[in-house]
Formats: sequence, structure tokens, C-alpha cells
Amino acid sequence: MKALVLSGGKGTRLRPITHTSAKQLVPIANKPILFYGLEAIAKARIVKVGIVVGDTHSEIKASVGNGSAWGLKVTYIPQEAPLGLAHAVKISQNFIGRDNFVMFLGDNLLRDGIESFVKDFEEKRPNAQILLAPVSHPEQFGVAELSHGKVKRLEEKPKKPKSNLALVGVYMFDSHIFEAVSKIKPSRRNELEITDAIQYLIDKKYTVTPHVVTGWWKDTGKLEDLLEANRLVLESIKPRNGGTVDSKSKIEGNVIIEKNAKILGSRIRGPVMIGEHSVIKNSYVGPYTSVYHHTTLENCEVEHSIVLENSRIENVRRIESSLIGQNATVIKSSSQPSAYRIMIGDSSRVEVP
Ligand code: DAU
Repeated sequence: MKALVLSGGKGTRLRPITHTSAKQLVPIANKPILFYGLEAIAKARIVKVGIVVGDTHSEIKASVGNGSAWGLKVTYIPQEAPLGLAHAVKISQNFIGRDNFVMFLGDNLLRDGIESFVKDFEEKRPNAQILLAPVSHPEQFGVAELSHGKVKRLEEKPKKPKSNLALVGVYMFDSHIFEAVSKIKPSRRNELEITDAIQYLIDKKYTVTPHVVTGWWKDTGKLEDLLEANRLVLESIKPRNGGTVDSKSKIEGNVIIEKNAKILGSRIRGPVMIGEHSVIKNSYVGPYTSVYHHTTLENCEVEHSIVLENSRIENVRRIESSLIGQNATVIKSSSQPSAYRIMIGDSSRVEVP
């Protein structure tokens, strides 16, 4: 059994963050999303992993390396452009060979990992196995229509979904998928869709079995989903303090303070994570916030947000439900005239009171 992790693509919905970085490397509870997938694969005792990479290949390679940190053996598979999930499968045929494999979308996060999913596949030996989860907006996903427990039809982002069962970004295949990806044609959005490739298998009477996910699942393609994934992961953290908390500070609930982080005259109400070398001074950090490393918060309130590395927030009344990128500065200025002075990247969004 091998694994194929998809870490190419464009990440248009997370611009401007993804103008400069891979969307799979945005941290959730201070750990890149992609690492959760790699951990899940290692836990399912799969060792050989192919990672499909695109424009952000050097950043992904720099973070994951040869995979030995997880006991994995990683091979990088360059994709010339994001031509679709089925295209990514097509170009990975040499790496997969005749093995069965699990395909894992690098921006997906599953609470319970993939062990039971892999075990189910190995026991039942279908030609493909898909993972499904009930969602409130099925039109944003691939959608499955079941009949008597069997997969009848799959449709990619249908306008009128036939069910609320979304295709989770984790799939298992045997070699027949290579026949399917070579037969299908590009979709309306001009991608080779894995949904169409699986529909091909169904039409050819190959066995495609559904497996419904039990714990939560998140596709982290949009800001709300990132914040929600961050909230869900923070819910289960165990408190730890590797940094410094002065006597004027108050820590409530589950809070992780990493090495060399400093909490000075501040109130932290968990669940919260404060990364290495970050400084929180005269501030309030509220529930469901992750502050990554080397970041400074001073005289401000931040809640339900993700703040990335090397950033600075100072003298700002309150920030909520926000994603602050790397090396960003948000400060109150006293210079006249009193006005918003903003330099934000392309495709950014700022809401002011
Ligand atoms: O997250 C689940 C959904 O993922 C499924 O419900 C859909 O059926 C499936 O098509 C897919 O939809 P998305 O539109 O969310 O896929 P996205 O373009 O975000 O790509 C998913 C991951 O695969 C992401 O980490 C980028 C990577 N990717 C994507 C494409 C199109 C590649 O590596 N190469 C590609 O060509």
C-alpha cells in the first residue's frame, strides 16, 4: 500500500495568504495542515508516500524533506499545472506501480485519521473506496448519491445536490483507477476530475464502496473553514507551559505556551496556543486563537483567530475571526490626520467597524 498526497493547486480562495505560500502549509493549532495528513498516513502504517507538488514545491520540500520525521519515504511528483485531481493520479502511475494506494488531499483534515478506512479497504478489497461526510452545503463539494448502501452516482459541485453526502478528500484505489483517468475528459472547470474517474469505475461495474466518516472532517480551502478547523483541534489540546508567565498574567483553561514564549501582564483564556519566541504583553488572547512563532501582541485583544509567524499587533482594540499572515503588522497610529493607513496584498479583505 502506498499513499499519494496532493499538495499542488492554486489556493485561490485563500489569497493573499496563498500568493506567497502553499495553502497546505497554513498552520492549524500551530502545525501545518499537511502534517496532519502525513501523521495519519504514518499511523496507518503506510511508508511510501508520493507528494504531488506544483508552484510551491520548494516550500513543501523545505517543510517535509524526505519524510523521515514521520518514518515515511517521500518521493516528490511535479505537476506542471493544477489540471485536476485525476491528472495528479495520472502523472503518479510510475510511482504507484501496481500497488493499491490511498489518495489524500493535502488541505483536508480528519479528526480520526484513516486507519479504519484503510483497514476496511484491505478487508473488503473493492476496486475503489470513497469516504463520505454529511455537510450543510453539499454544492461546494463532490456529492454522492447512494442507493441501498451502494454508490449510484457522483457529481462534482452540483447546482442541485442529490444528497448531503460530500466526498471527503481521501480515496482508496487499486490499479483500475489508471484505466479510468486515461478515459475521462476535462470538466467544465477544465480539470480532470477524480469524481468523473470514480463514476467511470461505477459505470464499468467495478466495485466502489462508501465509508462514512465518524469524527469531524474539514476541507480547509476557505477562511471560515481554517478558523473552524483551528477551533476543533484546539478543543482537544492539553495545557503545557514551556515559556514564561509573569505574576501579573492570568492563564485560564487549556493553553499551550511553547518554549521561549513570554506572557507579560496579559490574560489568556484557552483553548489557545502561543508559539515559540512569541511575546504577549498587556493583552487579552481569547478562545480558539493560535499565535505562531516569533510574533508580538501588545496592548490588544485577539480572539478566534490565527496569527502567523513574525507578525506584530500593537495597540489595536480587538481582532476577531481573522487570519493575519506572516510578517504582517497591525498597529494603531497616533499620527495626524487620524485615518486608516493600509497596505494590504491583492485579493485581501479588511472589515472595519
Ligand atoms: O475536499 C474535498 C473536495 O476536494 C471533494 O469534495 C471534491 O470532490 C474534490 O474535487 C476536491 O474539491 P476542491 O475543489 O476542494 O479541490 P482543490 O482544487 O482544493 O484541490 C484539493 C487538493 O489537491 C489541494 O491540496 C490542492 C491539490 N491539487 C489540486 C488540483 C486541482 C493538486 O495537487 N493538483 C491539482 O491539479
